[in-house]
Amino acid sequence: MEIQSVKGTRDFYPEDMAKRNFIADLWKQVSLRNGFSEYDGPIFEYLAMYQLKSGDEIATQLFAFEDRGERKLAIRPEITPTLARMVNQRINTLPRPIKWFSVPRLCRAERPQKGRLREFFQWNIDIIGVDDCLADAEVIFCSVDYLMQTGLTSDDVVVRISSRRLIAAMLEYFGIEEKHLEKVYGILDKKSKMPQETFEKMLEEAISDSNKRQKVLNLMAVESLVEFESFAGADKNANEAIEELKKLFNYLNIMGISEFCRFDIGIVRGLAYYTGIVFEIYDKSEQLRAICGGGRYDNLLADFGGQKISATGMGMGDCVLGIVLEEKGLFKNLSQKSGIEYFVAFAEESLQNESLKIIARLRRAGRKADFSYKGGSLGKQLKQASAVNAAICVIVGEEFTQKKQLVIKDMNSGKQDIIAVEDFFSRL
Ligand code: HAM
Repeated sequence: MEIQSVKGTRDFYPEDMAKRNFIADLWKQVSLRNGFSEYDGPIFEYLAMYQLKSGDEIATQLFAFEDRGERKLAIRPEITPTLARMVNQRINTLPRPIKWFSVPRLCRAERPQKGRLREFFQWNIDIIGVDDCLADAEVIFCSVDYLMQTGLTSDDVVVRISSRRLIAAMLEYFGIEEKHLEKVYGILDKKSKMPQETFEKMLEEAISDSNKRQKVLNLMAVESLVEFESFAGADKNANEAIEELKKLFNYLNIMGISEFCRFDIGIVRGLAYYTGIVFEIYDKSEQLRAICGGGRYDNLLADFGGQKISATGMGMGDCVLGIVLEEKGLFKNLSQKSGIEYFVAFAEESLQNESLKIIARLRRAGRKADFSYKGGSLGKQLKQASAVNAAICVIVGEEFTQKKQLVIKDMNSGKQDIIAVEDFFSRL
């Protein structure tokens, strides 16, 4: 029987691993320079935690199972619920604001497609304890800071920003009952991913009143925040949400990233817990799903039994991002070679043990050292040293037998030196 890998999963051969590390190392670097500290949680949690507030979409994509104690568990499809649980557990001792990041491996039983898999990595940054939209601006800034660091520019990517608060206020203003909101959000969120006809049909199923439905369709056609102001009329909630968005855009301007950002009422987000500003970043070719998405979730901590504390954050997966970086040729200087510093070769079979001692000493001194299992002629070993891109070849030959000396060959220049073993190690 030929064993196959599971649909929607990936094998990371060294060349794939180099790309994964390029993405993730930069996630960590950019998080740290933006003032975030790293955390992590378990890869499975109680199933109920993901059924509570994440919404139907995530709930139907769970890899759920029962353990031997008949506990109902699920592999994490996202880390935000874990974050809320962890913060609640220590809320009285954690200094605020809490600015944390994580790079969890997640699983969602989605239908695999371009940029969407069943197992992926997702960078998360979250700020807890700040209700001003400066925190949302900072989350957006940090996401853009990362993308710029990879080499992407405002010609390549766009941050589309909206507000759940604004959409909720408008839907309420149109007379759509609160109990239908979540369903309507789900449909609005999928608008750009389906033909207009299908969208209108789904809307018809959720909102039976054609007058109200038309208002929602008109709302979704609004293109700018200015246009929105006249649309919202005197509705207090809607106007407050518009003011908040204006303040956010002002912060983004001050932070120097306004050319990346634009208002887009079509951004609703698929997860149920968002309460305020929401955003998604897209590749401008418009062919791919979102590179990342996030927003404000001011009720999640309280919904998980904690205090009501403001929170905002975002998640960026490695799949769409990887496709964009590949297409733009931005995987730079990725060495698939081992990066070996010292390759130790022996001129005669009888010196193999001496060369092993040298290797062990080099490794204990913290140097990357390797050797040939096959041995063979010195020429063959030197070829192997070149194949692994070793910087230096240390040759244990007749100089060693006679005077305890090593031949040190610089593999780039080809230059050779002879040096006593102890001098070699003391100069490392
Ligand atoms: P999300 O929109 O479900 O949000 O996922 C965020 C990002 O994760 C997506 O934009 C995409 O890059 C990536 N992603 C999601 N599902 C998949 C998949 N099946 N395959 C590959 N990549 C995927 C959240 O998860 C929120 N918890 C983010 C957040 C953090 N909001 C606030 N804080």
